[in-house]
Amino acid sequence: MSVLEIKDLHVAVKDKEILKGLNLTIDLDKTVALLGPNGNGKSTLLQTIMGNPNYTVTKGKIFFDGKDITSLEADERSKLGLFLGMQYPSEVPGVNNVDFLKASLNAHREKPISLFEFYKVLNKAYDKVHIPFEMSNRNLNEGFSGGEKKKNEILQMLIINPKLVLLDEIDSGLDVDAIQTVASVIKEEQANRGFLIVSHYARLYDLINVDRAIILVNGRIAKDGDKSLIQKIDQEGYEWLKKEGIEFEDERQMNSVSIGSCATKEALKGAK
Ligand SMILES: Nc1ncnc2c1ncn2[C@@H]1O[C@H](COP(=O)(O)OP(=O)(O)OP(=O)(O)O)[C@@H](O)[C@H]1O
Ligand SMILES: [Mg+2]
Repeated sequence: MSVLEIKDLHVAVKDKEILKGLNLTIDLDKTVALLGPNGNGKSTLLQTIMGNPNYTVTKGKIFFDGKDITSLEADERSKLGLFLGMQYPSEVPGVNNVDFLKASLNAHREKPISLFEFYKVLNKAYDKVHIPFEMSNRNLNEGFSGGEKKKNEILQMLIINPKLVLLDEIDSGLDVDAIQTVASVIKEEQANRGFLIVSHYARLYDLINVDRAIILVNGRIAKDGDKSLIQKIDQEGYEWLKKEGIEFEDERQMNSVSIGSCATKEALKGAK
């Protein structure tokens, strides 16, 4: 069976270790929900799987479909069938959306697609994600609203046709109707490919089929279970993990502690 296999993965960003010996195997025909408190390494994991050079693998290996991809460039991983819909899609001034989509599609084909066929594929994809076709002539993500950027990531997925889709908070910034649209595209595509989907909210997961839910805490997979984990987190948050002896840095608490106990507080006292 085709899998993504991650073995003892250690990843550093600017000398700070973020992933600390992460092990994970995902079947390429399943949908996996990835949750975890802010700042614990979810985006780092997805970016590392995709081969973003800003994330340094200091130890461990990643195998995709039986091939060691740990030192491959992002474009090589893309050609093998990996795709990342980013948490913060970049604006690329000067690069036309249609030209970008056509170049991306052709990079995944042996022979370039004919213009006629390309426009057929393009029209169908725009229709599915409910983006007005006029937007195809704009530059890639330039001036797009938050929701438009996210829908444009789904559009790229439909055109590139990957084996495993990594989606990083695809639902953030989407209005209620857009979440329904994106979820229905994902649901339709679940039969054709695997998904690893990061979201903080049960809403998106409720609209699609979820085979498995995992929680990433402090750079490792702390829990691996079924969809019921999503409901538990939605209702109770993450504090219960600490009662089970799973420690993590909570950015919200770190912020409040630093404001409460640091020099700022002393300075405020002094100013009274
Ligand atoms: N380019 C960077 N420079 C410095 N620190 C970084 C960088 N990228 C990530 N980090 C740090 O790595 C840690 C993990 O970040 P990451 O984005 O993977 O978290 P996350 O689980 O996706 O969080 P969120 O739920 O808020 O999106 C954070 O402490 C973050 O500040
Ligand atoms: Mg993130």
